[in-house]
Amino acid sequence: MTAPVRHFLRDDDITVEEQEAVLVAAERLARDPRAGAGLLSGTAIGLYFEKHSLRTRVSSEVAASRLGAHPVQLRREELQLARGETLEDSARVLAGYLGLLMGRVYDHATLSALAAPGTLPVVNGLSDRFHPLQVLADLLTMRMEWGADLRERTLAYVGDGNNVAASLLLGGAMAGLRVVVAAPSGYAPDGGVVAEAMAIAATTGGDVAVTEDASEAADGADVLYTDVWTSMGMEGEEETRRDAFAGFRLDAGLVARARPDVVVLHCLPAHRGEEIAADVIDGPHSRVFAQAHNRLPATAALFLMLCDAAAFRELSA
Ligand code: CP
Ligand code: NVA
Repeated sequence: MTAPVRHFLRDDDITVEEQEAVLVAAERLARDPRAGAGLLSGTAIGLYFEKHSLRTRVSSEVAASRLGAHPVQLRREELQLARGETLEDSARVLAGYLGLLMGRVYDHATLSALAAPGTLPVVNGLSDRFHPLQVLADLLTMRMEWGADLRERTLAYVGDGNNVAASLLLGGAMAGLRVVVAAPSGYAPDGGVVAEAMAIAATTGGDVAVTEDASEAADGADVLYTDVWTSMGMEGEEETRRDAFAGFRLDAGLVARARPDVVVLHCLPAHRGEEIAADVIDGPHSRVFAQAHNRLPATAALFLMLCDAAAFRELSA
């Protein structure tokens, strides 16, 4: 019997142990990009985009090609999907050509429908609900800063309780972090996700908290993290959001409340002067470009795990 097809639509689609193994493999690839050469040769990886992207678009294509897989870029408007072919039929057909499909979508349900036939591994390259590939790179960045054991570290996320915050809650709890999300009223993370993250944290020694007080969240934090106030697909809400998030800017005041060696992260793209002050993103605590660069080995490790379990085991040993 062949093993069932695995997906990575949200952080907890893999186990705590598998996340750790992905990070081990990713760190190895970060330090020696040639370590993955040719491991997926003969495979093709589809990269499907409904929305804009710089990091995910380029790092996933380069990750595939470094592994020896052929990357195939797919834009929704060029496919029969845009003319009414179903997601399920499209996935069944693509399974005959591809070893894996990564998708960046507006609606998370699109990924679930692509995954439903169970014939092709589907990876979330950002949906309205989660951004799990991003959080693998974030954890890799912390790991390269402090070593593998992230327990006892506090990550304070300040801003919109959105897709990135949801994945930080799940993936962070899986890594044993204490994750505190500070968001204004009406923009808190999904209650179901918070409860799931709390349940995970109870098994890993991590912790999860949600507050409306950005200063309180920043107190003694090891990591300060933020994301844009207006995510893709919400452009009509820009003005309302600018008002709602006015007290949630990652600025020098918040940095001063955190630990003296605090690391500042942002998934990017950033809007200097809006969700993050220019002197913070460009300052000595910022690791945002290392974090962006870590998207490449983190994605390569995850692709390898889903496409070739034996090669992945060897790389993560
Ligand atoms: N952080 C991130 O996913 O960036 P892109 O939107 O440029 O892919
Ligand atoms: N929350 C942002 C993340 C971009 C990488 C968005 O969804 O647009």
